[in-house]
Amino acid sequence: MSSINSVKICFVCLGNICRSPLAQGVFETLMTKENFQDLVHIESAGTGNWHVGKPPDKRMQTTAGKNGVTMNSRARQFQPEDFDRFDLVIAMDQANLMDLSALCPPSIAEKKLRLFRSFDPENLSAKPLDVPDPYYGGDEGFDNVFNIVHRTSPKILEFIKTNYLNT
Ligand code: 4NP
Repeated sequence: MSSINSVKICFVCLGNICRSPLAQGVFETLMTKENFQDLVHIESAGTGNWHVGKPPDKRMQTTAGKNGVTMNSRARQFQPEDFDRFDLVIAMDQANLMDLSALCPPSIAEKKLRLFRSFDPENLSAKPLDVPDPYYGGDEGFDNVFNIVHRTSPKILEFIKTNYLNT
C-alpha cells in the first residue's frame, strides 16, 4: 500500500488582502472539487503588516464571489518561522520573493520558495512575471488577478501531486 503525505502551502503577497488571499480561496475551492482538502493545508500571508487582522479587500471579495469563490482569511504578516511550518511558500510577485528570500537561508529558499507565475501556463517567456498588484487600480485589475490565479492553480496542484503527494 502506498503512503500518502500531506503538504502545507502558503501564498504570500504584500498586504495579504488582495492577491494571496484570493490564491488561498481559489486553491481551497480547487482542493475541495478534486477531493484533496484533507491532504493540502493552505494559508496566506503578507510581507507587510499594515492590514494585519483585516478581512480581504471588498473589491477582491466581489471578484471572487462572482466567480464562485469565498474568501475567509484574515490578514497576517509572514514570519521567518513560517518557513518551518510550510513545505511550499509561493510569492505573488518578484518583490515578495526578494523580501521572503531575505528571511531564510538560501538552501531553504531553493527548496521551498517559488514565484506564482513560474507555474502560469500562459507565461511562455523565460522571463519571471508578477501577479500585478491591483490595490491602486480599477476593477479590471482584480479580474486580471482572478484570471491569472484561476488558470495557474491547477498547474500548482500538478506540481504538488508530483513532488509532495504519493497519488
Ligand atoms: P496585496 O495588495 O499585496 O495583493 O494584498 C495590496 C494591499 C495593500 C497595499 C498594497 C498592496 N497597501 O499599500 O496598503
